Amino acid sequence: MKINPPLCLSLTEVIPSTPTLLMGAGPVPIPKEVAAANSQLISHLGESMRRVIASIQSMGQYVFQTSSQKIFGIAGPSSGAMEMAVTSLLWPGRRVLVLNLGTFSARFGDLARGVGAEVTEIFPEEPGPFRVEEVRRALEAQTYDVLTLVQGETSCGVKNVELEGIVKLAKTFGVLTIVDAVCTLSTMALPVDEWGIDVAVVGGQKGLSAIPGISMIAFSEAAFEVVLRREKPMPHWCLDPRRSQGFWGRGEYHYTAPVPGLLALHEALRLICEETLEHRFERHLRSAQILQRGLLTMGLELHTPEEHRLNSVVAIRNPNKVNTKELLSHILKTHNVEISGAFGLDIIRIGQMGEQCRLKNVRRALEALGAGYEAFGVKLNTVAALKEIDSMLERELALAILAVS
Ligand SMILES: Cc1ncc(COP(=O)(O)O)c(C=O)c1O
Repeated sequence: MKINPPLCLSLTEVIPSTPTLLMGAGPVPIPKEVAAANSQLISHLGESMRRVIASIQSMGQYVFQTSSQKIFGIAGPSSGAMEMAVTSLLWPGRRVLVLNLGTFSARFGDLARGVGAEVTEIFPEEPGPFRVEEVRRALEAQTYDVLTLVQGETSCGVKNVELEGIVKLAKTFGVLTIVDAVCTLSTMALPVDEWGIDVAVVGGQKGLSAIPGISMIAFSEAAFEVVLRREKPMPHWCLDPRRSQGFWGRGEYHYTAPVPGLLALHEALRLICEETLEHRFERHLRSAQILQRGLLTMGLELHTPEEHRLNSVVAIRNPNKVNTKELLSHILKTHNVEISGAFGLDIIRIGQMGEQCRLKNVRRALEALGAGYEAFGVKLNTVAALKEIDSMLERELALAILAVS
């Protein structure tokens, strides 16, 4: 039977003419330089690409704060980078301790079971992050080859505040660590070498303010030794770091790289290097604090106590059991602002990653959220929250005028 072409929608029929402000848990808005790079195509091999790759790697060393040469880009989501990490270091007979704080840190367990590793999953003894002492007890109870954890669990807005201590502790037990820095890298400190992290992964669409579907991974020398010594065949061909070395070391063909995505990643990293990590961390912290103060001024409650609250994705309790799916869809339709729901918890989530951390974007998100709740019968003090931000915006404007005058 002949199949005729379907009635084709043009993208202008489905995508609003003014871009949606993405203020959820990712993807996040991208700078114009990233968007421009993402529309270019050059050959995936050859001199230009080799220079792009070398530049991504050296900028990656800065962003991960590592001198490791084993930094690779991956044509795939952050979960692809997590999968490369897990499949590289685990196979039948190897043991992994998974610190499960929620949806994303739990994914390491799924991936490890998939490669036939022996998986022990633990949950925090008290609500909140993992503590060094509870991890010590788990490490004393059994031997492990690998420990996995997340720096910021976006599903519930909790930050693993003792990550450095946990990683250093794991080292004393001879256990390799894999850290999910998907939403946190470049938004807060993660000095990979100083803390002794063995594998760190990040996705493009969050803190880096690049595009979704591209991710990065950094291996320590010790972790890469395991990769090189590994006798079991790798279950994945594309996600094999030994094969990735060809492209990421010598510019040789592995698979046809997602060229526009790599160019976009290049630009995102370049902008981070130009801003510097110190200033970027400061901008993220300040913006997330302004957002949180605004939410509290409005009369909303935050899901996570301040001492371990994740700044990159702020979890907000949903008042009056409003139907969050309907609320968020109303906000999207009426205000063209995306805010995220959650996986099971009665919370909504606003992101503070990359370009989301601009006062005007925080203001628009708060305004849309306040108006959205009002439409659902919840009266909030949005006016007071916006007034605070407006005075900050005025101050910023005055400073900018002073700077050019
Ligand atoms: C902390 C964390 N890890 C991993 C992931 C998975 O990312 P991706 O959807 O790009 O595979 C996410 C996605 O939201 C995340 O927030």
